[in-house]
Amino acid sequence: MLADKDRIFTNVYGFQPWNLPAAQKRGDWDKTKDLLALGNDVIIDKIKASGLRGRGGAGFPTGMKWSFMPKEPRPDRPNFLVINADESEPGSCKDREIIRHDPHKLIEGALVAGFAMRARAAYIYIRGEYIREAETLFAAVKEAYDAGLLGKNACKSGYDFDVFVHRGAGAYICGEETAMLESLEGKKGQPRLKPPFPAGAGLYGCPTTVNNVESIAVVPTILRRGPEWFSSFGNENNKGTKLFQISGHVNKPCVVEEAMSIPFRELIEKHCGGIRGGWDNLLAVIPGGSSVPLVPAAQIMDCPMDFDGLRALGSGLGTAAVIVMDKSTDVVRAISRLSYFYKHESCGQCTPCREGTGWMWRVMERLRTGDADISEIDTLQQVTKQVEGHTICALGDAAAWPIQGLIRHFRPELERRINERQAGNGMQEAAE
Ligand SMILES: Cc1cc2nc3c(=O)[nH]c(=O)nc-3n(C[C@H](O)[C@H](O)[C@H](O)COP(=O)(O)O)c2cc1C
Ligand code: SF4
Repeated sequence: MLADKDRIFTNVYGFQPWNLPAAQKRGDWDKTKDLLALGNDVIIDKIKASGLRGRGGAGFPTGMKWSFMPKEPRPDRPNFLVINADESEPGSCKDREIIRHDPHKLIEGALVAGFAMRARAAYIYIRGEYIREAETLFAAVKEAYDAGLLGKNACKSGYDFDVFVHRGAGAYICGEETAMLESLEGKKGQPRLKPPFPAGAGLYGCPTTVNNVESIAVVPTILRRGPEWFSSFGNENNKGTKLFQISGHVNKPCVVEEAMSIPFRELIEKHCGGIRGGWDNLLAVIPGGSSVPLVPAAQIMDCPMDFDGLRALGSGLGTAAVIVMDKSTDVVRAISRLSYFYKHESCGQCTPCREGTGWMWRVMERLRTGDADISEIDTLQQVTKQVEGHTICALGDAAAWPIQGLIRHFRPELERRINERQAGNGMQEAAE
């Protein structure tokens, strides 16, 4: 189990105040000027050496992403950092805890990361439903300005840096990085075609990097404690500590910081008081937020909870939002509900996603009640393959993968419902 001394987020449960004096007691904003004095490229190299991979879902190496930003920004085309606090993935609830209980970790991270990639300002895009969280964030940013930590000559470093907080209006798709840029510019939140990638042409056409809240909030601690400290946790290529968010049928659902690669069983035993009704009662787990395929109980027990361990099981770490389902779950209904979510949140730009998500949901509903033909299971599988990889953004994949996971692991259950329904219909017809 991760020792308390190795936790980055020491106020994740809000036992202490979030405000600046309390944050400074916890070590935030401690000699930030010295961190900046390391120099842009040294900071980027240290983040590369730490092995930090993006915490927003895709796991792209953070230091490498920063190195794509222009080294000599033109005065009329400044670099920007955009921080993704949209957190709309069903199951995800970690960025929220950072913002409401430890916002100065994020704000200091914004300055340090923004400085490293030579950004003029950071925009924090927070989802509309996070009302109290946004209030805290606005107040914390104001505290930082009032203390001279942001703005002109931030932290007396000689560097000018602004942080703007922007509230979204509650659309899942605005969490996709290019839809977020459109939304920030005041347009409809619809993803852009890539290339160009944001590092080439992002916010207002200027070079931009989009990073998740957790990816940015861990940066100052990594620099203070050293990249070797951070990379001492986790398996090769899956380094550091990570906020896991465990919900569903465990005895004590929680958000907890743990070492990356902790085995699933240990994570649940140590922090969640085990599975409701005992381990034999576990049915399946969606390990990374609703967009990744579920994994049946037997396969996930000893799996290292990291990017590569879960990919080897045909799933993914995603945002590490671990949704646990015991045997009382109607797993077909659960996945059908997710399909409805993706149908509802599709922005409608691409035909395979706009039409396919509705199509997939309607078939899922019929599979749920058993009002389908056995052959439709394969047809549904084919439709998921026609959506996956054929759309502008990854929402299409996110809609397809949970269904593919269901068919892969629970085909007998789908068939059982159809057979039972047909047997029931046959009996009714005979009675009539
Ligand atoms: C439909 C969709 C929704 C997304 N929602 C979020 C989100 O709420 N928060 C987030 O950090 N990343 C989200 N992402 C991923 C972002 O596009 C982007 O990869 C991420 O913010 C990069 O940050 P990182 O490199 O620090 O992980 C979403 C992606 C897609 C396709
Ligand atoms: S895949 Fe879906 S959400 Fe993404 S751009 Fe296309 S229609 Fe919009």
